[in-house]
Amino acid sequence: MMTSTVRSNSGQYVGSEACADCHESEYENYKKFSKKAKSGHSVKVMANDLTKAELEECFVCHATGFGKPGGFVSFEATPELADAGCEVCHGPGYDHVESGGDSELIQGKLQVSDCEHCHNPDRVAAFDFKPLLYGGAH
Ligand code: HEC
Ligand code: HEC
Ligand code: HEC
Ligand code: HEC
Repeated sequence: MMTSTVRSNSGQYVGSEACADCHESEYENYKKFSKKAKSGHSVKVMANDLTKAELEECFVCHATGFGKPGGFVSFEATPELADAGCEVCHGPGYDHVESGGDSELIQGKLQVSDCEHCHNPDRVAAFDFKPLLYGGAH
Protein backbone atom coordinates (compact mmCIF):
# COMPACT_ATOMS: atom_id res chain seq x y z
CA MET A 1 0.00 0.00 0.00
CA MET A 2 1.00 3.61 -0.21
CA THR A 3 1.24 4.20 3.50
CA SER A 4 4.25 3.52 5.65
CA THR A 5 2.71 1.17 8.17
CA VAL A 6 3.32 -2.07 6.24
CA ARG A 7 6.38 -3.71 7.75
CA SER A 8 9.06 -5.49 5.75
CA ASN A 9 7.08 -7.67 3.44
CA SER A 10 7.73 -9.42 0.14
CA GLY A 11 4.83 -7.46 -1.31
CA GLN A 12 3.21 -10.44 -3.02
CA TYR A 13 -0.56 -10.55 -3.39
CA VAL A 14 -2.63 -13.69 -2.84
CA GLY A 15 -6.26 -12.68 -3.41
CA SER A 16 -9.22 -12.60 -1.01
CA GLU A 17 -10.00 -16.34 -1.19
CA ALA A 18 -6.76 -16.98 0.68
CA CYS A 19 -8.10 -15.08 3.69
CA ALA A 20 -11.44 -16.88 3.89
CA ASP A 21 -10.50 -19.83 6.10
CA CYS A 22 -9.07 -17.75 8.93
CA HIS A 23 -11.27 -14.64 8.65
CA GLU A 24 -14.57 -16.20 7.77
CA SER A 25 -16.89 -13.42 8.94
CA GLU A 26 -14.90 -10.61 7.26
CA TYR A 27 -14.76 -12.66 4.10
CA GLU A 28 -18.50 -13.46 4.11
CA ASN A 29 -19.44 -9.84 4.79
CA TYR A 30 -17.13 -8.61 2.09
CA LYS A 31 -18.51 -11.05 -0.47
CA LYS A 32 -22.11 -10.27 0.42
CA PHE A 33 -22.09 -6.54 1.01
CA SER A 34 -19.08 -4.87 -0.57
CA LYS A 35 -19.30 -3.58 -4.13
CA LYS A 36 -15.58 -4.19 -4.30
CA ALA A 37 -16.28 -7.91 -4.48
CA LYS A 38 -17.79 -7.28 -7.93
CA SER A 39 -15.52 -4.50 -9.11
CA GLY A 40 -13.73 -6.69 -11.68
CA HIS A 41 -17.09 -7.48 -13.22
CA SER A 42 -17.87 -3.74 -13.45
CA VAL A 43 -14.88 -3.41 -15.77
CA LYS A 44 -15.30 -6.70 -17.60
CA VAL A 45 -18.76 -5.80 -18.90
CA MET A 46 -17.36 -2.61 -20.43
CA ALA A 47 -14.08 -4.09 -21.65
CA ASN A 48 -15.07 -4.49 -25.32
CA ASP A 49 -15.64 -0.75 -25.64
CA LEU A 50 -12.31 0.24 -24.10
CA THR A 51 -8.77 0.51 -25.43
CA LYS A 52 -5.99 -1.36 -23.67
CA ALA A 53 -4.75 1.89 -22.14
CA GLU A 54 -8.22 2.77 -20.84
CA LEU A 55 -8.63 -0.71 -19.41
CA GLU A 56 -5.34 -0.49 -17.59
CA GLU A 57 -6.53 2.71 -15.98
CA CYS A 58 -9.62 0.92 -14.68
CA PHE A 59 -7.56 -1.93 -13.21
CA VAL A 60 -5.61 0.47 -10.99
CA CYS A 61 -8.76 0.97 -8.91
CA HIS A 62 -10.99 -1.98 -9.76
CA ALA A 63 -8.46 -4.83 -9.38
CA THR A 64 -5.87 -5.77 -6.73
CA GLY A 65 -2.26 -4.66 -7.11
CA PHE A 66 -2.34 -3.85 -10.83
CA GLY A 67 1.09 -2.69 -11.99
CA LYS A 68 2.76 -3.88 -8.81
CA PRO A 69 4.93 -7.01 -8.47
CA GLY A 70 2.75 -10.01 -7.73
CA GLY A 71 -0.41 -8.04 -8.50
CA PHE A 72 -3.22 -8.31 -11.06
CA VAL A 73 -2.10 -8.91 -14.65
CA SER A 74 -5.22 -9.92 -16.60
CA PHE A 75 -8.60 -11.63 -16.13
CA GLU A 76 -7.09 -14.81 -17.63
CA ALA A 77 -3.74 -14.89 -15.83
CA THR A 78 -4.77 -13.68 -12.36
CA PRO A 79 -8.52 -14.17 -11.88
CA GLU A 80 -8.05 -14.28 -8.09
CA LEU A 81 -6.98 -10.61 -8.17
CA ALA A 82 -9.62 -9.31 -10.58
CA ASP A 83 -11.64 -7.50 -7.88
CA ALA A 84 -10.53 -4.82 -5.44
CA GLY A 85 -10.01 -7.36 -2.68
CA CYS A 86 -8.95 -7.39 0.98
CA GLU A 87 -5.43 -6.45 0.00
CA VAL A 88 -6.30 -3.06 -1.56
CA CYS A 89 -6.92 -1.92 2.00
CA HIS A 90 -4.77 -4.25 4.08
CA GLY A 91 -1.80 -4.45 1.72
CA PRO A 92 -0.16 -7.49 0.11
CA GLY A 93 -1.02 -10.56 2.18
CA TYR A 94 1.29 -13.33 1.03
CA ASP A 95 3.69 -13.17 3.97
CA HIS A 96 0.87 -12.88 6.51
CA VAL A 97 -0.77 -15.99 5.03
CA GLU A 98 2.47 -17.99 4.82
CA SER A 99 3.31 -17.15 8.44
CA GLY A 100 -0.06 -18.53 9.58
CA GLY A 101 -1.34 -15.05 10.51
CA ASP A 102 1.53 -12.94 11.91
CA SER A 103 -0.21 -9.60 12.49
CA GLU A 104 3.10 -7.76 12.00
CA LEU A 105 2.93 -8.77 8.33
CA ILE A 106 -0.38 -7.17 7.43
CA GLN A 107 -1.73 -3.64 7.63
CA GLY A 108 -4.31 -3.61 10.41
CA LYS A 109 -4.83 0.08 11.13
CA LEU A 110 -6.14 2.18 8.27
CA GLN A 111 -6.74 5.83 7.60
CA VAL A 112 -8.85 7.71 5.11
CA SER A 113 -5.67 8.50 3.17
CA ASP A 114 -5.48 4.77 2.38
CA CYS A 115 -8.71 5.17 0.43
CA GLU A 116 -7.93 8.35 -1.44
CA HIS A 117 -5.83 7.03 -4.29
CA CYS A 118 -8.94 5.24 -5.56
CA HIS A 119 -11.64 7.40 -4.03
CA ASN A 120 -9.90 10.50 -5.29
CA PRO A 121 -11.46 13.96 -5.21
CA ASP A 122 -12.53 13.92 -8.89
CA ARG A 123 -14.07 10.50 -8.61
CA VAL A 124 -15.72 11.38 -5.32
CA ALA A 125 -17.20 14.55 -6.84
CA ALA A 126 -18.39 12.67 -9.94
CA PHE A 127 -20.29 10.16 -7.86
CA ASP A 128 -21.19 12.58 -5.07
CA PHE A 129 -19.56 9.99 -2.86
CA LYS A 130 -17.66 10.29 0.38
CA PRO A 131 -15.91 7.17 1.65
CA LEU A 132 -16.13 6.47 5.34
CA LEU A 133 -13.31 4.55 6.91
CA TYR A 134 -15.59 1.64 7.81
CA GLY A 135 -17.53 1.65 4.56
CA GLY A 136 -16.97 -0.68 1.65
CA ALA A 137 -15.22 -3.34 3.69
CA HIS A 138 -16.85 -5.91 5.96
C1 HEC B 1 -7.70 -0.08 -5.05
C2 HEC B 1 -8.75 0.92 -5.04
C3 HEC B 1 -9.58 1.11 -3.80
C4 HEC B 1 -9.18 1.37 -2.51
C5 HEC B 1 -7.76 1.47 -1.98
C6 HEC B 1 -10.38 1.58 -1.76
N1 HEC B 1 -11.48 1.41 -2.56
FE1 HEC B 1 -13.45 1.58 -2.01
N2 HEC B 1 -14.05 1.01 -3.88
C7 HEC B 1 -13.19 0.82 -4.94
C8 HEC B 1 -13.97 0.50 -6.13
C9 HEC B 1 -13.40 0.20 -7.50
C10 HEC B 1 -15.33 0.52 -5.74
C11 HEC B 1 -16.55 0.30 -6.64
C12 HEC B 1 -16.68 -1.13 -7.06
C13 HEC B 1 -17.76 -1.30 -8.08
O1 HEC B 1 -18.91 -0.87 -7.83
O2 HEC B 1 -17.47 -1.89 -9.13
C14 HEC B 1 -15.34 0.86 -4.31
C15 HEC B 1 -16.48 0.99 -3.55
C16 HEC B 1 -16.51 1.50 -2.28
C17 HEC B 1 -17.71 1.83 -1.55
C18 HEC B 1 -19.12 1.70 -2.12
C19 HEC B 1 -20.09 0.99 -1.26
C20 HEC B 1 -19.90 -0.51 -1.14
O3 HEC B 1 -20.78 -1.16 -0.59
O4 HEC B 1 -18.90 -1.11 -1.56
C21 HEC B 1 -17.29 2.31 -0.33
C22 HEC B 1 -18.15 2.83 0.83
C23 HEC B 1 -15.85 2.28 -0.29
N3 HEC B 1 -15.40 1.76 -1.49
C24 HEC B 1 -15.06 2.67 0.79
C25 HEC B 1 -13.66 2.58 0.85
C26 HEC B 1 -12.86 2.91 2.00
C27 HEC B 1 -13.42 3.40 3.31
C28 HEC B 1 -11.56 2.68 1.66
C29 HEC B 1 -10.32 2.85 2.50
C30 HEC B 1 -10.30 2.23 3.82
C31 HEC B 1 -11.54 2.20 0.30
N4 HEC B 1 -12.84 2.14 -0.16
C32 HEC B 1 -10.40 1.88 -0.40
C33 HEC B 1 -11.83 0.89 -4.93
C34 HEC B 1 -11.03 1.13 -3.82
C1 HEC C 1 -9.53 6.40 -9.48
C2 HEC C 1 -10.13 5.08 -9.32
C3 HEC C 1 -11.06 4.54 -10.39
C4 HEC C 1 -10.79 4.39 -11.72
C5 HEC C 1 -9.52 4.77 -12.47
C6 HEC C 1 -11.96 3.78 -12.30
N1 HEC C 1 -12.91 3.57 -11.34
FE1 HEC C 1 -14.78 2.80 -11.63
N2 HEC C 1 -15.24 3.24 -9.72
C7 HEC C 1 -14.36 3.72 -8.77
C8 HEC C 1 -15.08 3.92 -7.52
C9 HEC C 1 -14.48 4.44 -6.24
C10 HEC C 1 -16.42 3.55 -7.77
C11 HEC C 1 -17.55 3.55 -6.76
C12 HEC C 1 -18.23 4.87 -6.71
C13 HEC C 1 -19.46 4.87 -5.83
O1 HEC C 1 -19.97 3.80 -5.48
O2 HEC C 1 -19.91 5.97 -5.50
C14 HEC C 1 -16.49 3.13 -9.16
C15 HEC C 1 -17.65 2.69 -9.80
C16 HEC C 1 -17.69 2.16 -11.07
C17 HEC C 1 -18.86 1.57 -11.68
C18 HEC C 1 -20.23 1.53 -11.08
C19 HEC C 1 -20.51 0.21 -10.47
C20 HEC C 1 -21.88 0.21 -9.80
O3 HEC C 1 -22.05 -0.56 -8.89
O4 HEC C 1 -22.73 1.01 -10.19
C21 HEC C 1 -18.47 1.11 -12.92
C22 HEC C 1 -19.32 0.38 -13.96
C23 HEC C 1 -17.07 1.44 -13.09
N3 HEC C 1 -16.64 2.10 -11.94
C24 HEC C 1 -16.32 1.14 -14.18
C25 HEC C 1 -15.06 1.67 -14.42
C26 HEC C 1 -14.35 1.52 -15.68
C27 HEC C 1 -14.84 0.76 -16.90
C28 HEC C 1 -13.16 2.20 -15.53
C29 HEC C 1 -12.06 2.42 -16.55
C30 HEC C 1 -12.47 3.10 -17.77
C31 HEC C 1 -13.14 2.74 -14.17
N4 HEC C 1 -14.30 2.40 -13.53
C32 HEC C 1 -12.08 3.45 -13.63
C33 HEC C 1 -13.03 3.97 -8.93
C34 HEC C 1 -12.39 4.02 -10.15
C1 HEC D 1 -12.32 -0.93 2.08
C2 HEC D 1 -11.20 -1.36 2.88
C3 HEC D 1 -11.17 -2.76 3.44
C4 HEC D 1 -11.29 -3.94 2.75
C5 HEC D 1 -11.52 -4.15 1.28
C6 HEC D 1 -11.13 -4.98 3.73
N1 HEC D 1 -10.92 -4.45 4.97
FE1 HEC D 1 -10.50 -5.45 6.67
N2 HEC D 1 -10.52 -3.72 7.75
C7 HEC D 1 -10.75 -2.48 7.20
C8 HEC D 1 -10.85 -1.50 8.28
C9 HEC D 1 -11.11 -0.01 8.12
C10 HEC D 1 -10.61 -2.22 9.48
C11 HEC D 1 -10.57 -1.66 10.89
C12 HEC D 1 -9.16 -1.12 11.13
C13 HEC D 1 -9.03 -0.36 12.42
O1 HEC D 1 -9.53 -0.86 13.43
O2 HEC D 1 -8.43 0.70 12.38
C14 HEC D 1 -10.41 -3.61 9.11
C15 HEC D 1 -10.13 -4.63 10.01
C16 HEC D 1 -9.89 -5.96 9.66
C17 HEC D 1 -9.49 -7.03 10.57
C18 HEC D 1 -9.23 -6.88 12.06
C19 HEC D 1 -10.40 -7.36 12.86
C20 HEC D 1 -11.60 -6.54 12.63
O3 HEC D 1 -12.57 -7.05 12.03
O4 HEC D 1 -11.61 -5.33 13.00
C21 HEC D 1 -9.41 -8.18 9.82
C22 HEC D 1 -9.05 -9.57 10.34
C23 HEC D 1 -9.73 -7.84 8.45
N3 HEC D 1 -10.01 -6.49 8.39
C24 HEC D 1 -9.75 -8.75 7.42
C25 HEC D 1 -10.20 -8.45 6.12
C26 HEC D 1 -10.42 -9.43 5.10
C27 HEC D 1 -10.18 -10.93 5.26
C28 HEC D 1 -10.85 -8.77 4.00
C29 HEC D 1 -11.30 -9.33 2.66
C30 HEC D 1 -12.29 -10.39 2.70
C31 HEC D 1 -10.86 -7.34 4.32
N4 HEC D 1 -10.48 -7.20 5.63
C32 HEC D 1 -11.19 -6.33 3.44
C33 HEC D 1 -10.87 -2.18 5.87
C34 HEC D 1 -10.97 -3.09 4.84
C1 HEC E 1 -3.68 -19.06 8.52
C2 HEC E 1 -4.69 -18.15 9.01
C3 HEC E 1 -4.74 -16.74 8.41
C4 HEC E 1 -4.84 -16.40 7.09
C5 HEC E 1 -4.85 -17.31 5.88
C6 HEC E 1 -5.00 -14.96 7.08
N1 HEC E 1 -4.96 -14.46 8.36
FE1 HEC E 1 -5.15 -12.51 8.91
N2 HEC E 1 -4.82 -13.02 10.85
C7 HEC E 1 -4.64 -14.30 11.31
C8 HEC E 1 -4.36 -14.25 12.74
C9 HEC E 1 -4.11 -15.47 13.62
C10 HEC E 1 -4.35 -12.88 13.10
C11 HEC E 1 -4.06 -12.30 14.46
C12 HEC E 1 -5.31 -12.23 15.22
C13 HEC E 1 -5.07 -11.53 16.54
O1 HEC E 1 -3.94 -11.22 16.87
O2 HEC E 1 -6.08 -11.28 17.21
C14 HEC E 1 -4.66 -12.14 11.89
C15 HEC E 1 -4.79 -10.76 11.85
C16 HEC E 1 -5.19 -10.06 10.71
C17 HEC E 1 -5.45 -8.63 10.68
C18 HEC E 1 -5.34 -7.68 11.85
C19 HEC E 1 -3.91 -7.21 11.96
C20 HEC E 1 -3.70 -6.24 13.12
O3 HEC E 1 -2.80 -5.41 13.01
O4 HEC E 1 -4.42 -6.36 14.12
C21 HEC E 1 -5.80 -8.32 9.41
C22 HEC E 1 -6.15 -6.95 8.86
C23 HEC E 1 -5.75 -9.55 8.64
N3 HEC E 1 -5.38 -10.57 9.46
C24 HEC E 1 -6.04 -9.64 7.32
C25 HEC E 1 -5.85 -10.77 6.54
C26 HEC E 1 -5.97 -10.81 5.11
C27 HEC E 1 -6.30 -9.62 4.24
C28 HEC E 1 -5.73 -12.09 4.72
C29 HEC E 1 -5.67 -12.64 3.30
C30 HEC E 1 -4.71 -11.96 2.41
C31 HEC E 1 -5.45 -12.86 5.91
N4 HEC E 1 -5.53 -12.02 6.99
C32 HEC E 1 -5.16 -14.22 5.93
C33 HEC E 1 -4.72 -15.46 10.57
C34 HEC E 1 -4.80 -15.51 9.20
